[in-house]
Amino acid sequence: MVKEFYLNRKLDHSISSELKQEALLFIRKTVLADFQLQEKILSKPLPNYHNIPPKEFISTLQELIGSDLTLDKTINSSDVISLPDLGEVLHKRPPSAKVFEEEKLSFNTFNSLLTNSVKADAKDNYRRPYPSAGMQYSVEIFLGLFENKIQDFQRNGLFQYHPKSHQLHQISEISFENLKTAFLNDPEDKAILNNTNIYLFYCLNLNKALYKYLHRGLFFSLMEVGSIYQQMEITTRELGLRSRVWGAFYPNIINRLTCTHPTTIIPVMCQLIGHSK
Ligand SMILES: Cc1cc2nc3c(=O)[nH]c(=O)nc-3n(C[C@H](O)[C@H](O)[C@H](O)COP(=O)(O)O)c2cc1C
Repeated sequence: MVKEFYLNRKLDHSISSELKQEALLFIRKTVLADFQLQEKILSKPLPNYHNIPPKEFISTLQELIGSDLTLDKTINSSDVISLPDLGEVLHKRPPSAKVFEEEKLSFNTFNSLLTNSVKADAKDNYRRPYPSAGMQYSVEIFLGLFENKIQDFQRNGLFQYHPKSHQLHQISEISFENLKTAFLNDPEDKAILNNTNIYLFYCLNLNKALYKYLHRGLFFSLMEVGSIYQQMEITTRELGLRSRVWGAFYPNIINRLTCTHPTTIIPVMCQLIGHSK
């Protein structure tokens, strides 16, 4: 089985570059179409991404999540196995933060957060705290950092984190007001967005993602984002902080603010970190 896998992998590498080009072009076209859609939405006063009437949206959603979906409608009851309820779980994940308090984050805590969540370990073959498909590490991490949110930090803007050198590279000098334009303007979100200490943006680097595994590399990279935000969540809690994964932002604005091209660097998820009880 293992041998077969490696044989297939060899075959994968011998796949013509035409096919790679095709996969890359297809994904780039799709991303570009989404980028254009976002631009259109932004030019209207009330964004409605899903374009489904709210009532219909809620009832469909309730139907989808209200009970376990039986995909095989013809399943026999003798093929259904009920598992005994153990009552308690080994590890209960605390709820995502709903609001943050206005309190600066110490620089040491900030450093510890990156060290324990994303830094590459030079003493261990540059392994990282999260898994990566084929060790490609195709997710780029950008951070929105501001002087009024972190102690002993005198800069404002967007930074790229470099996991091997454990460095932050400032890529644009922007105010918090500028960064806010990347988030949906929902008044209910202000309590969490305004008091967030660190704004993390996880972006796929398509050049890295597709290199080994073509379109599957794209899926693998998305999973890597999930692994990173879970690792970040674990560290966050250990440091007495809280977090919330946040999809409600405009990727095209992050591309603009980070001066990156939307068909190479795809911002897929944001994570907010701050103080909360
Ligand atoms: C991919 C992803 C995107 C999310 N985006 C948002 C978001 O934009 N706004 C928000 O309030 N919560 C967001 N969340 C958090 C979920 O709403 C939250 O995890 C869910 O309500 C379950 O609550 P719990 O984490 O407290 O169990 C997101 C979570 C994930 C995994």
